[in-house]
This record gives sequence, C-alpha cells and structure tokens, in this order.
Amino acid sequence: MSDTTRKPLVAGNWKLHKTMAEGVELADALLKALPAERTAEVAIAPVFTSLATVGHRLQGSSVALACQDLYWETQGAFTGEVGPLQVKELGCRYAIVGHSERRQYFGDTDDVVGKKAAGALAHDIAPIICVGESLAVREAGQAEAHVVAQVTAALAGLETSTLGQVVIAYEPIWAIGTGRTASPEDAEQMHLAIRTRVGEAHGKALADGLRILYGGSVKPGNAAELMAQPDIDGALVGGASLEAASFAAIVTAAG
Ligand code: PGA
Repeated sequence: MSDTTRKPLVAGNWKLHKTMAEGVELADALLKALPAERTAEVAIAPVFTSLATVGHRLQGSSVALACQDLYWETQGAFTGEVGPLQVKELGCRYAIVGHSERRQYFGDTDDVVGKKAAGALAHDIAPIICVGESLAVREAGQAEAHVVAQVTAALAGLETSTLGQVVIAYEPIWAIGTGRTASPEDAEQMHLAIRTRVGEAHGKALADGLRILYGGSVKPGNAAELMAQPDIDGALVGGASLEAASFAAIVTAAG
C-alpha cells in the first residue's frame, strides 16, 4: 500500500471452525505469535458462541474482535438473529457483512448487505463489506462491473457521515478456500476500480482513506506481494487464520 494514511488491517475469518476452548487456545497462541512492532491493525472473527470468551482473552491486547455477520435490527421478533447491540456489548469493533458464503448459502442480497452495514454503523461497529465475482462472471469479462455494482449498492443507503468507518474486502469467489489467488496485478486493478468508483460517488478524500482488503487464499507465501500493491490495504484471511504462525506471518507481511 502506498498511502500511509491508511492503516493496514488484517482480519481473520474463522468461519464455522473451532469450539470455544479451541478458539481461546488459538487466540492465546496468536497473541504470542503476533509481531510486537507493527503498523497493521489485527482483528479476528470467531463464531458467535465464542465471541464472549475470545473477546475476554483479547481485552487489553492490540487485537480487535469482529463478528462474521449480524442482523440490522437491535431487537424484536427475529428468531435466530443477533443484532448490533449484542455484538457491541461483547466488544466487537468490526462486523464482516456480505461474505460470499452468506450471499451464496443464506441468500444475502445487496439490499440485505447494505442494511447490515447500516445496522453495524448505527452502533459504531465498522462493517467489512465483502464483494467479489464468481469464475463465470470473471470469464465473461464482467468482474469489474459486477464488483463495482456490489460496492455501489452496499454504500448507497449509508449515511455519508459514517462512510469513513467502512472497510471493503474484495474476495473473488473462485479464490476463496481454493488455493488460487488473484495475481497481485489483477487484485490491484480491482482495488483501484473500487477506489475510483467510491471517489466518483463520495469524493476523493473518502476514497483515499478507504481501506480495501484483499481476500481469497491469502497465505504467508503470497501475502507480501499482494500487500505491496498500492491499493491493497490489508487482508481478510480464512484458512490461514486458523493457525497462529501463518496468520502472524501474514500480519508481518502487511507491515
Ligand atoms: P480463505 O478465505 O483465506 O480460506 O480463502 C477467505 C475468506 O473467505 O474470507
């Protein structure tokens, strides 16, 4: 990344992995493994049921707590949902919204993603809004249009005054959990397209400050070249965040 005003963020998305005891063990190992000297911000997103215990372990540390999803209402007849008040109470600073697995398996539409982002922001939780194209869309030459449209839709309903808190994560679906990553050049091109679009819609100052993470098979071996791209401001890490040493190595690569 070239703009030093953007603090890199490396977020670990644990997905549906780890029991509460295993999560605490991983959090402890991570606190030991992380580089003490770093500029990158670090966040981890355990499953909902581990937020309290893992969050307790992170108290007083430099690692932020994140949730993997949230509902936008704070209370009401919404069986099974967890809202911003509940995760805020547990200390979540970030909420991942619109992950492609949510979009694919749980029907989260652009509209739902926008509402979730707004719900988080209303409670001072920074949404990490995930966008990304499928392989079919990329092969059809539509990747940029698709991703830019997702970003536009997600930001459309948000209060201008809250946009400075938003984080975008570009995660090409074909790269998630597959061992395939976008080349640093292709990722950079997409990040630049996102930033350009946000600049057109919301002004250059906001776009310049916007953190855009890359996600999709980020590993210690490819993190440095991805992070070296001027418009890549960190990573959203799945598989490699389940092991303290590999996650710490990615954080080191982010600076
Ligand atoms: P991966 O997952 O690093 O295992 O590809 C990334 C993500 O889904 O956020």
